[in-house]
Amino acid sequence: TYLLGIVALAAYLLGSIPFGLLVARMFGLGDVRQIGSGNIGATNVLRTGNKSAAAATLVLDALKGAVAVLIAKAAMGEAAAQVAGLAAFLGHCFPVWLRFKGGKGVATFIGVIYALSWPVGIAVSVTWIAVVAIFRWSSMGALLAAGLAPVWAIILGYGAGVVLLMALCVLVYIRHSANISRLRVGTEPKIGKAKSG
Ligand code: G3P
Repeated sequence: TYLLGIVALAAYLLGSIPFGLLVARMFGLGDVRQIGSGNIGATNVLRTGNKSAAAATLVLDALKGAVAVLIAKAAMGEAAAQVAGLAAFLGHCFPVWLRFKGGKGVATFIGVIYALSWPVGIAVSVTWIAVVAIFRWSSMGALLAAGLAPVWAIILGYGAGVVLLMALCVLVYIRHSANISRLRVGTEPKIGKAKSG
């Protein structure tokens, strides 16, 4: 079990790399924590107006989750892969470098799912894209995609991952508590639209 502890720690450290913060800085966009929602994720990087920086953040935050899972899976199998996925997700949400004030975990969540079961990964990301395309709220996409992730896992035959996906779903909801409040009162900003629109 101490090997599992090492896997968890390594995955946590990988997940804790705040790519949104680093990418925005590299693009000369300043500190992403000072704009929009203050979040370090791709959605908030997009609020700088720089789509390339937002896309890079999305891909890198997803990749760190996927890489953590794939390495653990190759070395130690499914249980270690699940531990690594949870640890990478927690690393993103609670990074030691930012005094544990991290992101909301959506991109990392999707990367983790792709690496655990790619059919479920496709189903969850298509759910997210479809909801965002229809409603234009990134948070709404995340909440519905996370909620449906365990359902997709059952439908697509990844029963071994259902409990983990339920736990990740709960964490995604907890991290989105401010978004949920804004959605309820109608003040959640939509993406891809000018502020006046
Ligand atoms: O991935 C986070 C997204 O669901 C919401 O981000 O910046 O609108 O709070 P944000």
